[in-house]
Amino acid sequence: YHDPGFSAAVIGWQKKHGRHSLPWQKTQDAYRVWLSEIMLQQTQVSAVIPYYARFLDRCPDVASLAAAPSEDVMALWSGLGYYTRARNLHKCAQRVVAEYGGRFPDDPELLADLPGIGRSTAAAIAAFSYGRRAAILDGNVKRVFARVFGVEGYPGAKPIEDKLWRRAVALLPETDIESYTQGLMDLGATLCVRSSPACGKCPLASRCVALAQNRVSELPVRKPK
Ligand code: ADE
Repeated sequence: YHDPGFSAAVIGWQKKHGRHSLPWQKTQDAYRVWLSEIMLQQTQVSAVIPYYARFLDRCPDVASLAAAPSEDVMALWSGLGYYTRARNLHKCAQRVVAEYGGRFPDDPELLADLPGIGRSTAAAIAAFSYGRRAAILDGNVKRVFARVFGVEGYPGAKPIEDKLWRRAVALLPETDIESYTQGLMDLGATLCVRSSPACGKCPLASRCVALAQNRVSELPVRKPK
């Protein structure tokens, strides 16, 4: 599964064609990176941007968030939806203050033990904030991998997901983890979209099993009912 050409293609594409001016890309502050990744878990970039700015205005660091009344945190989140995220956000800030002196850990395993932070979000925070080499696998990245590798099963099913995680780990680059991580996210969000993907512009087109078999519209397979 190891293939340096894969990450090289993603990194080269990201540097030239990926997104570079999103608000959370201007910083390596783990608090800001964490906040953005939680907001982006179930909400589109365009909707997150104004909420992210307003939130940081009121809670500029993890200590101010930890100390804020719950009602204020919920009010700041109001409109973003999936309110469990806001409750976990508040709990997470309080644990980072109590257990880590207000500094987010750089170890993805420790990050993933905090409320609201799953394995993929932990890896994104560790990569963007600390340059740690860790694999992401969110919904968009699952779609990219399912197509490139011609994965047949539903990517939400545990055995398929385990296989995709092993791929994701094996494909990690030795350097440039930030560009690689952002590149995978950007590919999934801008080119390798669910319907009518822009395969003509994709840096992975030459290695894409789904494209070679003319099955891009069939992969990844939908959730079985
Ligand atoms: N979705 C999840 N994380 C993201 C990020 N860092 N940039 C853009 N979209 C994302």
